[in-house]
Amino acid sequence: MPKPTSTRRGSKSVALPKAILVLHGPNLNLLGSREPQHYGHASLEDINQMLKSRGKACGVSVECFQSNHEGVLIDRVQQARHDGVDFILINPAGYTHTSIALRDALAATGIPFVEVHLSNVHAREPFRHHSYFSDLALGVIAGLGAQGYELALEFALRHLHVKVTSHGSQKTEKTH
Ligand code: DQA
Repeated sequence: MPKPTSTRRGSKSVALPKAILVLHGPNLNLLGSREPQHYGHASLEDINQMLKSRGKACGVSVECFQSNHEGVLIDRVQQARHDGVDFILINPAGYTHTSIALRDALAATGIPFVEVHLSNVHAREPFRHHSYFSDLALGVIAGLGAQGYELALEFALRHLHVKVTSHGSQKTEKTH
């Protein structure tokens, strides 16, 4: 069952916390040691922890998931719809350039998403210049390293109308 956007407590309607899913494609489990000239020195765990703690400070649930298998990623995207995920950040990694099936899964859920790449794929080999995801994505961030995920999360928070105060607490301006 998709997550309802609010629940009733007594006579008051209370907005449920927003949920963001971060999906990492194949070989991203090797971040930190994998071709640091392209992907930097941060590990996947470093990136996930940074995103989760930022989410926590804003009262938003951030779940991170990595797989080296196309079908497993597709299953996770389909599951996101049932879980009531509000927004997806995805680095499809090598599947960016090959996977119509993963693209179709995102299209089927209709969950808004941002595509993130650590490296500037447009400054690399020609086969990395095409993405099966970019035209469906709300936006694409490439070449900013781990910071790209951070910026994508800030965008997602704004998109979801999460207002972050200087103390890191949040209130949701509007629910839909
Ligand atoms: C990547 C770029 C892809 O071309 C590559 O296959 C990856 C990582 C990036 O984050 O820069 O695995 O998505």
